[in-house]
Amino acid sequence: MLAILFSLFIALASAYPARGPCTGDCWTHDPSMIQRESDGKYFRFSTGTGVNTMTSSSLTGPWTDVGKALPGGSKIVLAGADSSDIWAPDVHYQGGTYYMYYVLSKLGTQTSQIGVATSTTMEPGSWTDHGIVGIPANSAYNRIDPNWITIGGKQYLQFGSYWQDIYQVALESPLQVGSNTPHQIAYNGSLNHRVEGSFLYQHGSYYYLFFSGGIAGSYTATYPAQGEEYRVHVCRSSSGLGGFVDESGRSCLESGGTIILASHDQVYAPGGQGVLNDKYLGPVLYYHYYSLAAKQAGGNGIDGYLYGWNELDFSSGWPVVKAV
Ligand SMILES: *[C@@H]1O[C@H](CO)[C@@H](O)[C@H](O)[C@H]1NC(C)=O
Repeated sequence: MLAILFSLFIALASAYPARGPCTGDCWTHDPSMIQRESDGKYFRFSTGTGVNTMTSSSLTGPWTDVGKALPGGSKIVLAGADSSDIWAPDVHYQGGTYYMYYVLSKLGTQTSQIGVATSTTMEPGSWTDHGIVGIPANSAYNRIDPNWITIGGKQYLQFGSYWQDIYQVALESPLQVGSNTPHQIAYNGSLNHRVEGSFLYQHGSYYYLFFSGGIAGSYTATYPAQGEEYRVHVCRSSSGLGGFVDESGRSCLESGGTIILASHDQVYAPGGQGVLNDKYLGPVLYYHYYSLAAKQAGGNGIDGYLYGWNELDFSSGWPVVKAV
């Protein structure tokens, strides 16, 4: 029975369609992708010194590295952290301004901070940093991997990684949490609670919570056991504020979360995902993955990450990764 289940898993795992094409500079890590309102140009932001900015006139490229969003780093001062080493940008547009939530952290610590910067063009160097958004410290969560959404006219941030996993907090203003208190929206009770990189996306009458489960890595020599590497899960809720369940009806506060994308073909450990409501294609899942070629060559650390994308089909009520 176990052997049958295992081979079924292998069959399913290799059944994901090919990723969308990319030309030009296809490197990314923890991408945030958005189209500029004024000209439809695509911007792809990534974790790294000053926040790496890539642009293209098409989703498929050619992509060009145009520079750093915050060349001088963040004004957040965090013991042991380099203020120019900025993680996990999340960019959205609202009322004439682009907002970038970002993280300053030190791997494995719980002292991380989420900050925010604004720009009217998204061009490198045009961002004004506003510093910490003010999520209260709590041993239940780590303040990383921010993601913004508006629900019923109110703004919220989703955030978190490991510990008690994913939390949501209302914002008093786009720049400040104020006196609002975070509440938990997803939790994996097993092992060390390997859930992070949440992204909440509204489609039809549901809010879909995408997150990365499993082990991320800079993959130089050692790799997680097969099936334990990064993959993309999803849960949904009608309020967007809680009550998330997976496709089997399991609560996402009780280790639920349907896998929609995992390692296949040249794509190893996809995660760090987001959803772009593309002006031409509709909902597009974008993510980073480790190139199997880089893995087979022994790994080249963070440089081995690449940008992948697929359109999403929501017609069943659950997002399905589409073939290109
Ligand atoms: C929860 O964690 C276990 C152990 O790491 C893993 O097998 C499972 O896929 C995870 N589920 C979710 C929804 O994250």
